[in-house]
Amino acid sequence: MRHLLRDDDLSPAEQAEVLALAARMKQEPFAHRPLAGPRAVAVLFDKSSTRTRISFEVGIAQLGGTPVIIDAKASQLGRGETIADTARVLSRYVDAIVWRTGDQSRIEEMASAATVPVVNALTDQFHPCQVLADLQTVQERLGRLAGVTLTYLGDGANNMAHSLLLGGATAGMHVRVCAPQGFTPDEQVLRDAKDRATHTGGGVELIGDPHAAVAGADVLVTDTWVSMGQEDDGLDRAAPFRPLQVNAELLARAAEGAIVLHCLPAHRGDEITDEVLDGPHSAVWDEAENRLHAQKALLTWLSST
Ligand code: CP
Ligand code: NVA
Repeated sequence: MRHLLRDDDLSPAEQAEVLALAARMKQEPFAHRPLAGPRAVAVLFDKSSTRTRISFEVGIAQLGGTPVIIDAKASQLGRGETIADTARVLSRYVDAIVWRTGDQSRIEEMASAATVPVVNALTDQFHPCQVLADLQTVQERLGRLAGVTLTYLGDGANNMAHSLLLGGATAGMHVRVCAPQGFTPDEQVLRDAKDRATHTGGGVELIGDPHAAVAGADVLVTDTWVSMGQEDDGLDRAAPFRPLQVNAELLARAAEGAIVLHCLPAHRGDEITDEVLDGPHSAVWDEAENRLHAQKALLTWLSST
């Protein structure tokens, strides 16, 4: 039994297998029913969601399974039942547990007590389902992953930065992170991504200057400057993050034919301009759609391992 708690839980070969399956799922959305029976999947949310919730619910149904969507705060988990006890009980009802929560230690605790696969649907530290969809989108648009230069501009310490580092390095990409001082990635995640990159021919770099960071890049990625749960932390982000805005001027310095990704929701006029988000280089709507295909592939893969 396997879990997906962070991006490097998949080896390079396994990640490639899931992505190939995701491409097939997209071609034939109703041809794969590994959860028919039906098998049930619990999808729990401690935080808000539009894409993750709906893509899992629709995807599980398309696979022939029964999605059980739970607002965790309204469950006994929200009243203090332990994570481990919740994992034991859920494992008696469902065939997989998908959870969006806060600290990574929470989902690790769920996985260690569960007897079914556990999938990270976003924690404070990682968002691996999103990055599978991002990689699927890059593969579709550019025809390759290995050797592609991807620049992430924004909060280098958030879930998207960490997952792009690990997931991109696993795919053999050259991942550049451009983040303000005080918002750089976790040192251990950087070491893990560098280690992974040495096995895949990829690379990992921190570049402070946004012009240098985007020069010649094939993919630009950004994300909100204020992640869920950080709304009231009192940190001034606008001033240090403003030079990292993905706008036409920055995009012009990337490679010709570069694509732009954003996991959404976007804060138009902050981390990205309307002109870029709605422009010809933007792949964000395909990226959002690919959540569905990538997660169906992941659940299929997990159900067969
Ligand atoms: N990108 C993403 O995870 O979106 P939601 O927060 O809407 O699920
Ligand atoms: N970094 C963002 C991603 C949202 C999908 C957050 O955690 O709020």
